[in-house]
Amino acid sequence: MAILKIARMGHPVLLQRAAEVPDPAAPEIRRLVADMIETMEDAPGVGLAAPQVHVPLRIFVFRVPGHRGTGDADDAPAGTQVAINPVVELLGDDLRLRWEGCLSIPGLRAAVPRHWRIRYSAVDTEGRTFGREATGFHAGVVQHEFDHLDGILYPMRMTDFSLFGYNEEIERAMIAQQQAAQAAQEKA
Ligand code: NI
Repeated sequence: MAILKIARMGHPVLLQRAAEVPDPAAPEIRRLVADMIETMEDAPGVGLAAPQVHVPLRIFVFRVPGHRGTGDADDAPAGTQVAINPVVELLGDDLRLRWEGCLSIPGLRAAVPRHWRIRYSAVDTEGRTFGREATGFHAGVVQHEFDHLDGILYPMRMTDFSLFGYNEEIERAMIAQQQAAQAAQEKA
């Protein structure tokens, strides 16, 4: 196992379409996936796509931490999942702005429009195909990671660039906003 170097925005590997994995059960793919999981956990992050570690293949790993889920039945907390050669279908036209970051764009976050509900399928490292519907955070992280396989980074999906900034500044602004709302409530 090894912690891999993460490519940052500006590196051409992040802008190309990644190739299908011919044999998802191959030992070298299993090794790559194990290293990707270790790299994601070390960062720490909630998702990582193979092009982010300079491997232009259609693979990503992700997890749904308990505190990030929306409470929806199709957005339950989930441990680390592996998706090889994934297919994503966007369901309905319910798009919502969701805050997200990216290990290839360190220190920043933005509100990005994502479909609330999706259906996706993929292959795991045993070569088994699985599929499910997902909503909320789960749907958002899958859309973000799937975009990496097509050379798309989240700023390319943004519609409101005023909702883009450094983590510390946005956290500070959010806390100030919450405090102002609380003070207004106490007065009422
Ligand atoms: Ni990313």
